[in-house]
Amino acid sequence: MALDQLGEWERTCYCGEVDESFVDRTVTLMGWVETRRDLGNLIFLDLRDREGVVQCVASPGRPGVLEKAKKVRSEFVLAVEGKVVRRGEEVINPSLKTGMVEVQISHLRVLNGSEPPPFAITEAASAVEETRLRYRFLDLRRSSMQRNLKLRHQATMATRRVMDSMGFLEIETPILTRSTPEGARDYLVPSRLYPGQFYALPQSPQIFKQILMISGFDKYFQIVKCFRDEDLRADRQPEFTQIDIEMSFPRPETVYRVVEKMLVEIFKVIDVEPGIPFKRMTYDEAMNRFGTDRPDTRFGLELSDVGEAFAETPFNVFRKILEGGGMVKGIRVSGKAGYSRKELDLLGEVVGRYGAKGLAWIKRQEGGFKSSLPKVVPEAELSAACAKAGAEEGDIVLMVAGTFKVVHDSLAALRLHLGQELDLVEKDRWDFLWVYDFPLFEWDEETRRYYSVHHPFTAPAPQDLDKIESDPGAVRSLAYDVVLNGLEIGGGSIRIHQEDVQKRVFTALGISPQEAQDRFGFLLEALRYGAPPLGGIAMGVDRIVMLLAGATSIRDVMAFPKTARGVDLMCQAPSQVDAKQLDELHIQVKE
Ligand code: AMO
Repeated sequence: MALDQLGEWERTCYCGEVDESFVDRTVTLMGWVETRRDLGNLIFLDLRDREGVVQCVASPGRPGVLEKAKKVRSEFVLAVEGKVVRRGEEVINPSLKTGMVEVQISHLRVLNGSEPPPFAITEAASAVEETRLRYRFLDLRRSSMQRNLKLRHQATMATRRVMDSMGFLEIETPILTRSTPEGARDYLVPSRLYPGQFYALPQSPQIFKQILMISGFDKYFQIVKCFRDEDLRADRQPEFTQIDIEMSFPRPETVYRVVEKMLVEIFKVIDVEPGIPFKRMTYDEAMNRFGTDRPDTRFGLELSDVGEAFAETPFNVFRKILEGGGMVKGIRVSGKAGYSRKELDLLGEVVGRYGAKGLAWIKRQEGGFKSSLPKVVPEAELSAACAKAGAEEGDIVLMVAGTFKVVHDSLAALRLHLGQELDLVEKDRWDFLWVYDFPLFEWDEETRRYYSVHHPFTAPAPQDLDKIESDPGAVRSLAYDVVLNGLEIGGGSIRIHQEDVQKRVFTALGISPQEAQDRFGFLLEALRYGAPPLGGIAMGVDRIVMLLAGATSIRDVMAFPKTARGVDLMCQAPSQVDAKQLDELHIQVKE
């Protein structure tokens, strides 16, 4: 059909704003046709823009309007001029802000057509994610996506305002840089001018922000993209955004206060007021009680150590695990002594995914115990385990035996599973929590070496400095995480500001002096020129906005995310490049 020009028309307001206060006014609206209902002599067009939808009516009174409206289809782009009138009682739509009124079209301009969209652009008919990502330009028209990205904007604007008010300077750091270790693989960018050499995209601005403190900027922040080539999950993307923060002369408490104030401002966006100061919990306590360093504290089902009950058990499997330095822990589930075989098998599958060899259980029933443990286990042991777990009549204790890691990983997962299944999670509660006192290093059996729990620039706790060489596994760090409802939304630390300590930590991590010099020589050098005590944190913007939006994946709060396989389905990245480009970059692709 012939298209109209926008001409001299200007929009007077957004479609979604037209409510009863507009009655009798003439408005000019621009937007997309969400739905069209043709009653012959009357055509209803729901016109949509970023603020919402309003019903517009084409009727025969106006020359040309009805004819044009007949040709309009879903997702056509229109400009509409018309008078706002109150709807008849029987056709009021109370669920819409604009549901009391409609716009009687006096002039209509069809600015563009549209092919029939591959899926309806409504909340109810949301398509599968692959299709949504392939046609992201259409998917983003949906009201929930518009809302999510608006929330994201409001959250970052609130951040900028509050950080500015606290005296932080936003300073940009490079994207083409050297590798900064944050525990993932780097994305590399080949250099055209230096054959065989590569830039790395930053996993975080960690080293640069430390250098900015050495340079005297005192308080830095940046809302910044980070890049990590790691396995993706619902809360992880290869490129994501951090609110990155660094300060000179801080104590952990100084950083806590800044972050708490910032989160209070951010959560105003959804009218939630986090109680400050946030609760605090050591890493050890979090592991002991919840089996994870990012516990969801909105519900109970805490872990109990029931190992003592089996210290001398005739049941070989448990005894050997305990003698070998392992543990037996359990979760008491109130009133679930009636769990069936089938239900218990399903719970067994949950722990099995985390390496547990099985899920043992004791039911405390009227007049005694029933258990999955072999008959040789005396009732006194079952009774002692139930007492340890706090089980009363009618309860069940679900137990896993194994290494520290297997027991905690599997019971933490079981706890979350049960919390969901038994509907124990209070949905509108916001549990902010600082977890601190992390170990500095963790031992990896496979590669037989220590790794940083956070990153190699994290300061050891002063009282543990002399254990860096003698007992690295026992060294605590000055690192902290912010956890919200079981999700790690931020992590940071006080940093090492003395060269000799930094060198000792590199050595403990198996980084040779030569390698340290090659990779971090510039940092070591900067540390020699008056580095102040320093520290900071980085917050995950995508994860925070996901929680603000009540979304279940960070993909729903990013305009153009990648799939779980790291692909941008809309622009088809990654893609091959032509031979000339490769040639200029001195790159040959292996067959
Ligand atoms: P860390 O690696 O803990 O710390 O990252 C900080 C926060 O960033 C978010 N995050 C992610 N979000 C989405 N996708 C990912 N792949 C991803 N990885 C991390 C999380 C996390 O808590 N340089 C340090 C910070 C510091 O020490 O100051 C760092 O990057 O919410």
